[in-house]
Amino acid sequence: MALIRLHQVAKTYSRGVYTVAALRDINLELEKGEFLSIMGPSGSGKSSLMHILGCLDTPSQGQFYLEGVDVSSLDRDALAQIRNEKIGFVFQQFYLLPRLSALENVEMPLLYTRLAASLRSVRARQALAQVGLAGREEHLPSELSGGEQQRVAIARALINNPVLLLADEPTGNLDTATGLEIMALFQQLNQEQELTIILVTHDPDIAAFSSRLLMLRDGLIISDHPNPAMPVRPARS
Ligand SMILES: Nc1ncnc2c1ncn2[C@@H]1O[C@H](COP(=O)(O)OP(=O)(O)O)[C@@H](O)[C@H]1O
Ligand SMILES: [Mg+2]
Repeated sequence: MALIRLHQVAKTYSRGVYTVAALRDINLELEKGEFLSIMGPSGSGKSSLMHILGCLDTPSQGQFYLEGVDVSSLDRDALAQIRNEKIGFVFQQFYLLPRLSALENVEMPLLYTRLAASLRSVRARQALAQVGLAGREEHLPSELSGGEQQRVAIARALINNPVLLLADEPTGNLDTATGLEIMALFQQLNQEQELTIILVTHDPDIAAFSSRLLMLRDGLIISDHPNPAMPVRPARS
Protein backbone atom coordinates (compact mmCIF):
# COMPACT_ATOMS: atom_id res chain seq x y z
CA MET A 1 0.00 0.00 0.00
CA ALA A 2 1.31 3.43 -0.93
CA LEU A 3 1.86 5.87 1.94
CA ILE A 4 0.17 8.57 -0.14
CA ARG A 5 -2.26 8.30 -3.02
CA LEU A 6 -3.91 11.25 -4.69
CA HIS A 7 -6.66 10.35 -7.13
CA GLN A 8 -7.90 13.01 -9.56
CA VAL A 9 -7.44 15.76 -6.99
CA ALA A 10 -8.62 19.23 -7.89
CA LYS A 11 -8.58 22.40 -5.79
CA THR A 12 -10.51 25.51 -6.69
CA TYR A 13 -10.67 28.72 -4.69
CA SER A 14 -13.49 31.18 -5.15
CA ARG A 15 -12.72 34.87 -5.18
CA GLY A 16 -15.99 36.69 -5.41
CA VAL A 17 -17.50 35.75 -8.75
CA TYR A 18 -14.24 34.23 -10.00
CA THR A 19 -12.87 30.81 -9.27
CA VAL A 20 -9.19 29.91 -9.45
CA ALA A 21 -8.27 26.36 -10.42
CA ALA A 22 -5.12 25.91 -8.31
CA LEU A 23 -4.90 22.13 -8.87
CA ARG A 24 -6.67 20.45 -11.76
CA ASP A 25 -6.08 16.72 -12.04
CA ILE A 26 -3.41 15.49 -9.68
CA ASN A 27 -2.64 11.77 -9.58
CA LEU A 28 0.27 10.80 -7.39
CA GLU A 29 1.50 7.80 -5.44
CA LEU A 30 4.33 7.92 -2.95
CA GLU A 31 5.85 5.01 -1.06
CA LYS A 32 7.24 5.16 2.45
CA GLY A 33 10.88 6.25 2.40
CA GLU A 34 10.72 8.38 -0.74
CA PHE A 35 12.21 11.87 -0.88
CA LEU A 36 10.23 13.98 -3.35
CA SER A 37 10.89 17.54 -4.46
CA ILE A 38 8.04 19.56 -5.95
CA MET A 39 9.10 22.34 -8.29
CA GLY A 40 7.23 24.77 -10.51
CA PRO A 41 6.78 28.47 -11.15
CA SER A 42 5.00 30.77 -8.73
CA GLY A 43 1.25 30.16 -8.83
CA SER A 44 1.58 26.62 -10.22
CA GLY A 45 -0.14 25.06 -7.18
CA LYS A 46 2.79 23.91 -5.03
CA SER A 47 1.50 25.34 -1.77
CA SER A 48 -2.05 24.19 -2.50
CA LEU A 49 -0.75 20.66 -2.98
CA MET A 50 1.31 20.85 0.23
CA HIS A 51 -1.73 22.07 2.17
CA ILE A 52 -3.71 19.04 1.03
CA LEU A 53 -0.83 16.63 1.74
CA GLY A 54 -0.44 18.21 5.18
CA CYS A 55 -4.15 17.82 6.00
CA LEU A 56 -4.39 21.60 6.37
CA ASP A 57 -6.97 21.69 3.58
CA THR A 58 -9.11 19.22 1.65
CA PRO A 59 -9.49 18.74 -2.12
CA SER A 60 -12.45 20.29 -3.93
CA GLN A 61 -12.65 17.05 -5.92
CA GLY A 62 -10.95 13.69 -5.83
CA GLN A 63 -9.49 11.61 -3.01
CA PHE A 64 -6.40 11.76 -0.83
CA TYR A 65 -5.49 8.48 0.84
CA LEU A 66 -2.91 8.59 3.64
CA GLU A 67 -1.85 5.11 4.76
CA GLY A 68 -4.90 3.80 2.93
CA VAL A 69 -7.37 6.06 4.76
CA ASP A 70 -9.39 8.51 2.65
CA VAL A 71 -8.77 11.77 4.48
CA SER A 72 -10.38 13.99 1.81
CA SER A 73 -13.78 13.84 3.48
CA LEU A 74 -12.75 14.16 7.14
CA ASP A 75 -13.86 17.10 9.29
CA ARG A 76 -11.52 19.68 10.82
CA ASP A 77 -11.03 17.89 14.13
CA ALA A 78 -10.21 14.58 12.50
CA LEU A 79 -7.77 16.31 10.15
CA ALA A 80 -6.09 18.06 13.08
CA GLN A 81 -5.62 14.75 14.84
CA ILE A 82 -4.02 13.15 11.76
CA ARG A 83 -1.80 16.20 11.37
CA ASN A 84 -0.58 16.01 14.97
CA GLU A 85 0.05 12.27 14.90
CA LYS A 86 1.43 11.72 11.43
CA ILE A 87 2.89 14.86 9.86
CA GLY A 88 5.84 17.09 10.64
CA PHE A 89 6.12 20.56 9.09
CA VAL A 90 9.15 22.70 8.29
CA PHE A 91 8.71 26.17 6.81
CA GLN A 92 10.84 28.92 5.29
CA GLN A 93 10.34 30.96 8.46
CA PHE A 94 11.38 28.86 11.40
CA TYR A 95 8.46 29.83 13.67
CA LEU A 96 10.41 29.25 16.88
CA LEU A 97 9.09 30.85 20.06
CA PRO A 98 11.69 33.51 20.91
CA ARG A 99 11.48 33.24 24.71
CA LEU A 100 11.83 29.46 24.79
CA SER A 101 15.11 27.56 24.66
CA ALA A 102 15.91 25.21 21.80
CA LEU A 103 14.93 22.29 24.05
CA GLU A 104 11.61 23.88 25.05
CA ASN A 105 10.79 24.70 21.42
CA VAL A 106 11.38 21.07 20.42
CA GLU A 107 9.28 19.82 23.34
CA MET A 108 6.27 21.98 22.35
CA PRO A 109 4.38 19.35 20.30
CA LEU A 110 4.74 16.88 23.19
CA LEU A 111 2.86 19.17 25.57
CA TYR A 112 -0.33 17.96 23.91
CA THR A 113 0.49 14.31 24.57
CA ARG A 114 0.30 12.36 27.81
CA LEU A 115 4.06 11.87 27.94
CA ALA A 116 5.65 12.63 31.34
CA ALA A 117 7.76 15.80 31.54
CA SER A 118 10.99 13.89 32.13
CA LEU A 119 10.38 11.74 29.03
CA ARG A 120 9.54 14.82 26.98
CA SER A 121 12.90 16.26 27.83
CA VAL A 122 14.73 13.03 26.97
CA ARG A 123 12.97 12.80 23.62
CA ALA A 124 13.68 16.46 22.81
CA ARG A 125 17.37 16.03 23.64
CA GLN A 126 17.53 13.02 21.34
CA ALA A 127 15.84 14.98 18.54
CA LEU A 128 18.30 17.87 18.93
CA ALA A 129 21.21 15.42 18.83
CA GLN A 130 19.72 13.90 15.66
CA VAL A 131 19.96 17.26 13.90
CA GLY A 132 23.49 17.96 15.15
CA LEU A 133 22.61 20.34 18.01
CA ALA A 134 23.70 18.38 21.09
CA GLY A 135 25.03 20.95 23.58
CA ARG A 136 22.80 23.77 22.28
CA GLU A 137 19.72 22.76 24.32
CA GLU A 138 19.60 25.86 26.52
CA HIS A 139 20.24 28.43 23.77
CA LEU A 140 17.50 30.86 22.81
CA PRO A 141 16.68 31.16 19.09
CA SER A 142 18.37 34.58 19.03
CA GLU A 143 21.59 32.92 20.19
CA LEU A 144 21.57 30.50 17.25
CA SER A 145 22.47 31.01 13.57
CA GLY A 146 19.79 30.72 10.88
CA GLY A 147 20.89 27.22 10.01
CA GLU A 148 20.82 26.18 13.67
CA GLN A 149 17.35 27.66 14.08
CA GLN A 150 16.12 25.64 11.11
CA ARG A 151 17.68 22.53 12.70
CA VAL A 152 15.69 23.23 15.87
CA ALA A 153 12.55 23.51 13.73
CA ILE A 154 13.40 20.19 12.07
CA ALA A 155 13.92 18.53 15.47
CA ARG A 156 10.53 19.89 16.55
CA ALA A 157 8.95 18.45 13.38
CA LEU A 158 10.46 15.02 14.13
CA ILE A 159 9.57 14.82 17.80
CA ASN A 160 6.30 12.92 17.28
CA ASN A 161 7.88 10.40 14.89
CA PRO A 162 5.83 11.54 11.90
CA VAL A 163 5.25 9.22 8.93
CA LEU A 164 5.70 12.22 6.62
CA LEU A 165 7.84 15.36 6.77
CA LEU A 166 6.64 18.31 4.67
CA ALA A 167 8.99 21.20 3.98
CA ASP A 168 7.90 24.34 2.08
CA GLU A 169 10.99 26.24 0.84
CA PRO A 170 12.97 25.22 3.97
CA THR A 171 16.18 26.83 2.71
CA GLY A 172 14.52 30.04 1.47
CA ASN A 173 15.83 32.14 4.37
CA LEU A 174 19.32 30.63 4.44
CA ASP A 175 22.51 31.46 2.57
CA THR A 176 23.57 28.97 -0.10
CA ALA A 177 26.11 27.04 1.97
CA THR A 178 23.79 26.74 4.98
CA GLY A 179 20.92 25.69 2.72
CA LEU A 180 23.04 22.88 1.32
CA GLU A 181 23.91 21.75 4.87
CA ILE A 182 20.21 21.60 5.73
CA MET A 183 19.59 19.57 2.57
CA ALA A 184 22.37 17.17 3.54
CA LEU A 185 20.58 16.72 6.88
CA PHE A 186 17.26 15.96 5.13
CA GLN A 187 19.07 13.49 2.89
CA GLN A 188 20.66 11.80 5.89
CA LEU A 189 17.30 11.54 7.71
CA ASN A 190 15.77 10.06 4.56
CA GLN A 191 18.52 7.54 3.92
CA GLU A 192 19.37 6.47 7.47
CA GLN A 193 15.92 6.58 9.06
CA GLU A 194 13.75 6.04 5.99
CA LEU A 195 11.93 9.27 6.78
CA THR A 196 9.51 10.13 3.97
CA ILE A 197 10.04 13.74 2.88
CA ILE A 198 8.16 16.02 0.48
CA LEU A 199 9.81 19.35 -0.16
CA VAL A 200 8.87 22.41 -2.21
CA THR A 201 11.64 24.46 -3.73
CA HIS A 202 12.36 26.89 -6.57
CA ASP A 203 15.99 25.88 -6.67
CA PRO A 204 17.23 22.94 -8.80
CA ASP A 205 20.39 22.69 -6.64
CA ILE A 206 18.16 22.08 -3.61
CA ALA A 207 15.89 19.61 -5.44
CA ALA A 208 19.01 17.69 -6.47
CA PHE A 209 19.19 16.22 -2.94
CA SER A 210 15.90 14.37 -3.36
CA SER A 211 15.37 11.01 -5.05
CA ARG A 212 12.32 12.01 -7.09
CA LEU A 213 11.46 15.24 -8.91
CA LEU A 214 7.96 16.46 -9.69
CA MET A 215 7.19 19.52 -11.76
CA LEU A 216 3.90 21.43 -11.56
CA ARG A 217 2.58 23.97 -14.04
CA ASP A 218 -0.86 25.60 -14.00
CA GLY A 219 -2.13 23.08 -11.46
CA LEU A 220 -1.04 20.03 -13.45
CA ILE A 221 1.86 17.61 -13.04
CA ILE A 222 3.98 18.11 -16.16
CA SER A 223 6.77 15.72 -15.15
CA ASP A 224 7.49 13.22 -12.39
CA HIS A 225 10.62 11.09 -12.48
CA PRO A 226 13.44 9.70 -10.34
CA ASN A 227 16.42 11.97 -9.83
CA PRO A 228 18.96 10.60 -12.32
CA ALA A 229 21.81 11.89 -10.15
CA MET A 230 20.81 9.78 -7.14
CA PRO A 231 22.09 6.23 -6.70
CA VAL A 232 19.42 3.57 -7.00
CA ARG A 233 18.51 2.37 -3.53
CA PRO A 234 19.35 -1.31 -3.06
CA ALA A 235 16.27 -3.51 -2.62
CA ARG A 236 15.59 -4.34 1.00
CA SER A 237 15.37 -7.95 2.02
N1 LIG B 1 -6.63 31.00 -0.47
C1 LIG B 1 -6.65 31.29 -1.78
N2 LIG B 1 -7.67 31.99 -2.33
C2 LIG B 1 -7.71 32.27 -3.63
N3 LIG B 1 -6.77 31.91 -4.53
C3 LIG B 1 -5.72 31.20 -4.05
C4 LIG B 1 -5.60 30.86 -2.67
N4 LIG B 1 -4.43 30.17 -2.49
C5 LIG B 1 -3.88 30.09 -3.71
N5 LIG B 1 -4.63 30.70 -4.65
C6 LIG B 1 -4.35 30.78 -6.09
O1 LIG B 1 -4.14 29.44 -6.56
C7 LIG B 1 -3.07 29.39 -7.49
C8 LIG B 1 -1.98 28.45 -6.96
O2 LIG B 1 -1.41 29.02 -5.78
P1 LIG B 1 -0.33 28.29 -4.89
O3 LIG B 1 -0.80 26.91 -4.60
O4 LIG B 1 -0.02 29.17 -3.73
O5 LIG B 1 0.91 28.21 -5.89
P2 LIG B 1 2.49 28.21 -5.62
O6 LIG B 1 2.72 27.75 -4.21
O7 LIG B 1 3.04 27.27 -6.64
O8 LIG B 1 2.97 29.61 -5.84
C9 LIG B 1 -2.60 30.81 -7.67
O9 LIG B 1 -3.27 31.35 -8.79
C10 LIG B 1 -3.06 31.50 -6.41
O10 LIG B 1 -3.28 32.87 -6.62
MG1 LIG C 1 3.76 28.68 -2.58
